[in-house]
Amino acid sequence: MQRREFLKTSALAGSAYFLLRNRALAATADAHIEVLVNEPIATIAPEIYGHFTEHLGGVIYDGVWVGEKSKVANIGGIRKELVEKLKAIKAPVVRWPGGCFADSYDWKDGIGPRDKRPRRTNFWVDDGQARKLPNDSVQKFEPNTFGTDEFVRFCKLSNAEPYVAANLRSLPPLSFDQWVEYCNSPAHSTTYADIRAAAGSPDPYNVRYWGIGNESWGCGGTFTPEEYSNEYRRFTAWVPEYGVGLKYVASGPNQDDVDWTTQFFEDILHRRPIHPPFGWSVHNYTNQLEALNFNDQDAYSLFYQGTSTEQIIQNMWIAMGVFDREHHTRLVVDEYGPWYGAGTEVDPTHIFGQQITMRDAIVTAFTLDIFNRHAEKVCMGNCAQLINCIDSLFLAHEDKFISTPNFDVFEMYAAHQGAQAVRTEIAAPSISFNDIQKPDRWGPQRGGGPHSVQRDLTGLMGSASVKGKQLTLTVVNPHLTDERDTQIAIRGGSTASVTATVLAAGDIHAHNTFEQPDAVRAKSAQATANGSTVSFRVPPMSVSKLAIMLS
Ligand code: AHR
Repeated sequence: MQRREFLKTSALAGSAYFLLRNRALAATADAHIEVLVNEPIATIAPEIYGHFTEHLGGVIYDGVWVGEKSKVANIGGIRKELVEKLKAIKAPVVRWPGGCFADSYDWKDGIGPRDKRPRRTNFWVDDGQARKLPNDSVQKFEPNTFGTDEFVRFCKLSNAEPYVAANLRSLPPLSFDQWVEYCNSPAHSTTYADIRAAAGSPDPYNVRYWGIGNESWGCGGTFTPEEYSNEYRRFTAWVPEYGVGLKYVASGPNQDDVDWTTQFFEDILHRRPIHPPFGWSVHNYTNQLEALNFNDQDAYSLFYQGTSTEQIIQNMWIAMGVFDREHHTRLVVDEYGPWYGAGTEVDPTHIFGQQITMRDAIVTAFTLDIFNRHAEKVCMGNCAQLINCIDSLFLAHEDKFISTPNFDVFEMYAAHQGAQAVRTEIAAPSISFNDIQKPDRWGPQRGGGPHSVQRDLTGLMGSASVKGKQLTLTVVNPHLTDERDTQIAIRGGSTASVTATVLAAGDIHAHNTFEQPDAVRAKSAQATANGSTVSFRVPPMSVSKLAIMLS
């Protein structure tokens, strides 16, 4: 990269400012990062690093649950290796049972003796992939083997908190009250507490996070915002707390639908005021057709789509702030990730199962960086979904189990949990590419068929946080061929040492398989610290973590 070209294409309008301040460094480096240690944003909620499990395809059955009699190592039916991996990445919270499944689920079917539980039709029975499966597939007809007790046990084993999504479309508010009672009423206090005790837990589960429906504008009821706010009011009014501070997550917009947000908050805070919810759910998937068969333009196009999460967060925050001026409600991005068409799932029963390449790890990583940079706005994130599904960290079938490159991202980024996010400015050459709109997994492109648009993608992305003397800087280079010789200036601190970890592969299509489980793995790399400057060569198509000890 020539210096003139860098100046021309620098991603930040303010890059000249950095170049002037760092004249000597600018002469040698082609990218600059300033970490402003004394400009805190907010504490990064550990829950930003959360996960999502739905009764969908191979997520629960074959993924989380293998059964007590299975030859697969398990703890009371729950896949042991999965639990160990979740502990390793400090998984803070897991969302369940959906997704769309949540609004068709009767929680009472999933309690009591397992062999007495009823079989029911799964929400996804009419999905194209499901239709090809035989009628005895648990993916089509739900056996309810895995219910509330099994889910809470899975969370406890993994040191994660449960986040339960309630059925608002097809069950009444009383059923929701009773689910809360089942989970949280004290030992011996209610009939539900006794049923819970018979299942092995006299002590209450103390579930705090409750989703009030899911995608209520779509599979969760196709409500209007006014209808949804009425339902939200009915579901959350006067629910007994049992000493647990219940935290409600209201069903937010379809991607960037600001109108949904505005109308909901106007209704519940202005027209007929009630207590604002803890969280406002946001879903943002990036969509394409092919998980493995894609070209460079497709990769850049996906990255570009993925960056929209930042704009959505900002737009929702502004819309909510009009009515919730003190921002009592924060954002819960409880579904996100790249989503492709069928064909790369490790087993035909894994509806929406897909392979996870280096491309997906890049989108996942910069999404987490976006959450960190907006730590005052985002209080939870749930990658969709944990295992055998869309943007998974794990792929498993029977006794085969691997972690995808997304696992490495979560492992590297775990150091941000609970740390103070600090302002970070990045100047790097942007990536100019021809964005050819193609049909995605939803069919022909909405908006009028294939056409191309010239776009600029941010050249380097990242975020930084400080916990005690430990400064963590994560950096994503989406460029498929160019490394970035990067000078990092630590403003307001000086460095004692630095260690670098890099997740990179020579090929953007690289992924792990049952045959080659470690084809893509994070490795340690070289970085040097000198006074308040760190020098680091960021490899192309990579995710990096710099652990900087401040002196
Ligand atoms: O994650 C798959 C589905 O995507 C979820 O069930 C739904 O909430 C979303 O549309």
